[in-house]
Amino acid sequence: MTSQTLREARKYEEEAEKMIKEEERPGFHLSVRTGWMNDPNGFSYYKGQYHLFYQYYPYDLKWGPMHWGHAVSKDLLHWYYLPAALAPDETYDRDGCFSGSAVTLPDGRQLLMYTGVLKEQRKNGKFHDIQTQCLAVGDGVDYVKYENNPVLDAEDLPEGSSKYDFRDPKIWKKEDGTYCCVVGNRPSDGSGQILLYTSLDGFQWNFKSILASNHNRFGKMWECPDFFKLDGKWVLLTSPQDMLPSGFEYHNGNGTLCLIGDYDEETGIFTEQHDQAIDYGIDFYAPQTVLAPDGRRIMIGWMQNWDACALRSPEEKWLGQMSLPRELFIKDGKLYQHPVKELEKMRKNKVEYYNITFSNLLNLDRIQGRRIDLELTLRPGEPEKLYQKFALRFAQNDTYQTALSFRPHESILKIDRKFSGSRRAIIHQRRSLVNSRNGELKLRLILDRFSAEVFINDGEQVMTMVMYTDLAAEGICFFADGMVNMDVVKYDLV
Ligand code: FRU
Repeated sequence: MTSQTLREARKYEEEAEKMIKEEERPGFHLSVRTGWMNDPNGFSYYKGQYHLFYQYYPYDLKWGPMHWGHAVSKDLLHWYYLPAALAPDETYDRDGCFSGSAVTLPDGRQLLMYTGVLKEQRKNGKFHDIQTQCLAVGDGVDYVKYENNPVLDAEDLPEGSSKYDFRDPKIWKKEDGTYCCVVGNRPSDGSGQILLYTSLDGFQWNFKSILASNHNRFGKMWECPDFFKLDGKWVLLTSPQDMLPSGFEYHNGNGTLCLIGDYDEETGIFTEQHDQAIDYGIDFYAPQTVLAPDGRRIMIGWMQNWDACALRSPEEKWLGQMSLPRELFIKDGKLYQHPVKELEKMRKNKVEYYNITFSNLLNLDRIQGRRIDLELTLRPGEPEKLYQKFALRFAQNDTYQTALSFRPHESILKIDRKFSGSRRAIIHQRRSLVNSRNGELKLRLILDRFSAEVFINDGEQVMTMVMYTDLAAEGICFFADGMVNMDVVKYDLV
């Protein structure tokens, strides 16, 4: 039985969606059907297609009582909306159906696990969320909440852990058919920890261990954990709140963290060996992964920064898009990312230039556009003489431009959306330290109308950013202070 809250949301989104023209959305990044979107949820492969749910408030351009929006795709790039899957309509989740994940049950139904939120008034009059883990079972379109919800609550927490910050279960099925899930939580030191739970059937859950502890090193509360094996190592992804920057890492306030290490399945304890940000741009948070049928581990993130939502005018019809789905792998102990290989099928109208040496400004015939895949290989243009600066300007016309610039002497790559049409004093630039020897650098820039994703050195780092520049600004030009030699290969993505 669909509740009235869900029926209303489904009716509303169907009507409101018609107000948004196709060209007002990104072409191949999933954007919210209408209203507000945050985290990706329930990223899964089910009944022959990818399912992606998301944190959703259809009625406004700001965060509100969370629903789950729903979309499906065969290739991770062409998305089709399905009716909203969950609404805050039960006593245990009436203030929100927060983030969660999905698995397929042995009987072919899909199991969603999410955080139910209920506001509780404390003695001081202030409201606090009570967060519990809940289930819903469905057929890929309609989901029924489990009668014994919640399945994990304050009783299932280790001593001293907070029942107010206990959210974002990521569930997976083990080879032996049993289930595990990781959940973000806060111990008494006020920082973050990841709890591990196990279940024989997906419905009855037991606390196993504290998988990993923050000890106030990487931000505070750890949101949206994901945990999986990759290339012989174990990877813990999480999105810490309130991070302090350290060198060129962790500049986003609410940032992303990748820990790579080993995992003892017996004790349920993860030992970290390496830490890094997942994305080095401005807009990337709360990523979640799916294991594709062909064995690829694919990650998608919310392409937005909590502190920079004001970049989007409140008069628009939607706020919130997902990043490109990215294939993950580990190389030299570090996390690498590639745009999913499906993107190659969208490449059309190849334009290529090799071995161009230039200084000052350069325009190249047919290098322009806002839905493009652009590969650049940079080298010094003169032997023994390093250039001072290289810049690529895009989404450009007489009024606007967004820039990617590289200073080889410092090995710093910078993205800058100051002139992208923003009317707000929010963060517009991010610098990242990149690996470059002798002024050599490889860049792959993906533009999809309202975003730029830069894959550096074959996926060693990624910088992601949204920009809501007028679509008429589609120029691209190159700048060099000193002599630069480069190859340029460009495709339209259609
Ligand atoms: C992360 C987050 C999650 C929570 C959801 C609520 O962006 O704060 O921890 O489940 O958003 O919308």
